[in-house]
Amino acid sequence: MILLKNFIVYIIHNIFLQLLILNEVKSQKFIKPDPRNGHTSTFIHDKLYILGGVTNRNNSSPKETFLYVDFSVSFNVNKINWHNLSSKNSIVPSHHLATTLAVNNTLFLFGGININSHEIMAPAYKFDIQSNLWKIQEINGIPGKQGAISIFDESTIYLFGGSPFTYNINDLFIIKSNDLTWKNANLTNSPFPRAQYGAVLLPNKYIIYMGGYNNGSIPLDQVYLYDIRNDFWTIKQTYGSIPSARYSFSRLDGNNIIIFGGQEDDKTIVENSLYVLNVNNFNWHIPKVTGKIPSSRTSHKAALIGKHMVITFGKGYNQEIEDDLLLLDISNNNEYAWTSYFALSPITNSKSLDQTDAQPDQPDTQSMQSNATNGSDVMTGLIIGAIINGILLIVGTFFLYKWYKNKRIRNNATLPNQINNQGQEIISIPENTELHT
Ligand SMILES: *[C@@H]1O[C@H](CO)[C@@H](O)[C@H](O)[C@H]1NC(C)=O
Ligand SMILES: *[C@@H]1O[C@H](CO)[C@@H](O)[C@H](O)[C@H]1NC(C)=O
Ligand SMILES: *[C@@H]1O[C@H](CO)[C@@H](O)[C@H](O)[C@H]1NC(C)=O
Ligand SMILES: *[C@@H]1O[C@H](CO)[C@@H](O)[C@H](O)[C@H]1NC(C)=O
Ligand SMILES: *[C@@H]1O[C@H](CO)[C@@H](O)[C@H](O)[C@H]1NC(C)=O
Repeated sequence: MILLKNFIVYIIHNIFLQLLILNEVKSQKFIKPDPRNGHTSTFIHDKLYILGGVTNRNNSSPKETFLYVDFSVSFNVNKINWHNLSSKNSIVPSHHLATTLAVNNTLFLFGGININSHEIMAPAYKFDIQSNLWKIQEINGIPGKQGAISIFDESTIYLFGGSPFTYNINDLFIIKSNDLTWKNANLTNSPFPRAQYGAVLLPNKYIIYMGGYNNGSIPLDQVYLYDIRNDFWTIKQTYGSIPSARYSFSRLDGNNIIIFGGQEDDKTIVENSLYVLNVNNFNWHIPKVTGKIPSSRTSHKAALIGKHMVITFGKGYNQEIEDDLLLLDISNNNEYAWTSYFALSPITNSKSLDQTDAQPDQPDTQSMQSNATNGSDVMTGLIIGAIINGILLIVGTFFLYKWYKNKRIRNNATLPNQINNQGQEIISIPENTELHT
């Protein structure tokens, strides 16, 4: 008797549990964000934040002005769990062509053009990823500008060139990140004025600047190195398969600089999109690639996340056919690979379902599915189990069990070593963007 009563309680409990979980699964919406260009992408603690930009069709603001993708879970690029943070974005005007960078837990935003007033945004903004709050940050004496790139190194921000007025400048502002006091760099041998160029911090503490737009797109047969330690510019000739003049491309750092996409003039997006510059001998080459080659893009963004170059949005592709986020696996220097799956190695996967559940202020898109390595089994199990309740409860329970078991195995696997095995600081490269008009 007691046994039967317990059994019934158990069954009822299970039904409720499943309805509850089903509800969560159902309420998980996969957002298809408006396409955009001239946005920023910033990688901070496992999350890639996408901010601003204009729609490709009519230069208005995309509905989702602030999004992130969680890189602490594996996912397929054709089913990305975009988290919509737009409602937290009440202070920053709709804008494009800004530059962002990450300082500890803070996302800094400089410049950009206000989409509604068409004015350059003068103050900086900062977003605290822990409190999810935006603040205005005044910087005195530095003009707001569009089409610049900011680089961060050891509590200093380097902000070169861009367009504060109707013309471009070539000043390099050196800004302390704690109080935003600043000075100008030595201008001898600096690049001529430009916007929408490429810039990357090299391991030897030089910043390399290349390409961009002035009164036309700027050739890549010359690149410029700024020596951070000695406040000194040098000009370098490049060799090999030099890419055509271009701007609004994206690039990555390391000993090789990879550039993707860009445009030659107002209309023409470059065809040969992928090039590599070896920064030891300044030779360009076209890398060998496998996988499905995506359309070239412009005004997109790239970030280096683990072994992937992660490209987001931009102009030049059809959102119905191609994905908003592209992954280029660059772990093998002799052959890169376009891939659609972001796989976490077991050791880097230190985020468990419990941790996710414990975060109360997560946006509405709790991603049960993407947290389960075995997502489809879980979904199938839960849905069948809940719809046909009593009868198929056992099926549901079985899948549930399997899911918990998988989860346990995963969690155990992460226990011995929680360190990011890439051993690598994951660097976000704020990008260049948008047509120059
Ligand atoms: C601009 O395009 C977006 C989609 O790209 C659309 O949602 C929006 O309604 C359009 N706005 C106008 C004013 O046409
Ligand atoms: C994202 O949030 C914004 C602001 O709350 C809203 O306007 C937009 O419709 C949301 N997008 C989706 C796809 O839910
Ligand atoms: C980042 O955080 C570390 C440790 O809390 C602190 O020492 C450092 O000053 C911070 N860096 C900046 C640029 O604020
Ligand atoms: C600026 O750099 C040049 C070399 O590129 C050097 O000759 C000059 O003295 C420097 N100027 C200042 C003010 O340090
Ligand atoms: C156009 O830009 C180039 C560099 O891109 C510069 O050398 C040249 O002086 C500029 N010409 C005009 C008319 O501004």
